[in-house]
Amino acid sequence: MYKQIGILTGGGDAPGLNAVIRAVVRTAIGEYGMSVIGIEDSFEGILGETQTTRLTKRSVSGILPRGGTILGTRNKGSFAQVVDGVPHFPEMPISEALANLDILGIEALIVLGGEGTLAIAEQFHKRGFPVIGVPKTIDNDLAATELTFGFMTAIDIATEALDRLHTTAESHDRVMILEVMGRNTGWIALHAGLAGSADIILIPEIPFSIDSVLRKVREREEDGSRFTIIVVAEGAREVGGSALYADKEQLRLGGVGEYLRREIEERSGKESRCVVLGHLQRGGSPNAFDRMLGTNLGACAVRALCSGEVGKMVALQAGTIVNVPLSEACVQIKTVPTDGQLVRTARDIGISFAAPKESDM
Ligand code: F6P
Repeated sequence: MYKQIGILTGGGDAPGLNAVIRAVVRTAIGEYGMSVIGIEDSFEGILGETQTTRLTKRSVSGILPRGGTILGTRNKGSFAQVVDGVPHFPEMPISEALANLDILGIEALIVLGGEGTLAIAEQFHKRGFPVIGVPKTIDNDLAATELTFGFMTAIDIATEALDRLHTTAESHDRVMILEVMGRNTGWIALHAGLAGSADIILIPEIPFSIDSVLRKVREREEDGSRFTIIVVAEGAREVGGSALYADKEQLRLGGVGEYLRREIEERSGKESRCVVLGHLQRGGSPNAFDRMLGTNLGACAVRALCSGEVGKMVALQAGTIVNVPLSEACVQIKTVPTDGQLVRTARDIGISFAAPKESDM
């Protein structure tokens, strides 16, 4: 049994991180009598003059409904360098971190993060340091788990935005476009589009054609609906095109919604507006589901660690939490199956994905 464990959060924040932290602390202290050290600003907090804080039941009291992460997080850091899209893990920061963990008396780590953060966690495991990963991304694109916390909250927020856009779109007979997050996958756009009654859903997995978008807008007009609601994932691309970046150097996506707005207005004369939902999807309080999922993942992560399951990630599969090897957890992302049930359902109820093929309409 460990006397003291560490916990850190890495990558973009997601609603529910604090729920996981709270559950880890309560389980570790209450159930296993361990101490917990919070490491600040992702793995960076164990380099140089280390930044850590002792977490107690009292210090995590009241954080369950709070957004963000009380530990702070970083998207980029010293532990991974991406060369031609391939991550490399230089030895130096890892050996420094391992030495510092030893000095701090931290015997194992619970790491909350997405693909990138978990790949760094795996490097610690490979060097014999006990690690358990907890999956985190609002994009819900980690293959080994059915759901990630933060995703359901993001859908709630996007759905509310679509509801609000409906009334103004209808009043002005406009095309309203909502650009949502989703770097490589369209899970948020698809789920929110279904829940928020979008007419067109554009996702990275199904390249769109502007002609098909315009056809759907026209069909709706002919049917008596003089407004159209489009939800587009930030990573969606036109057939033969590529994703649009707000900042190419920093690989920050953005602009596809505004591109659509311009094309629609210019080619159809139909007044159009675009709203970018951005970080509103990530900030603020987690919904009830994400609080529950985060709590369950946190407690299960500690149980896994204390039963000797190291180098694993806790994951939701068939409604229950299981442990999967970190190596499997990071290898591939989970994309929307284009022949899957939800896409089929959307098409059946008349939602267009604006694929160039006529069969889509
Ligand atoms: O990975 C999650 C995500 O929400 C992506 O969909 C988005 O591109 C990215 O984070 C933006 O993160 P940041 O602004 O922190 O770089």
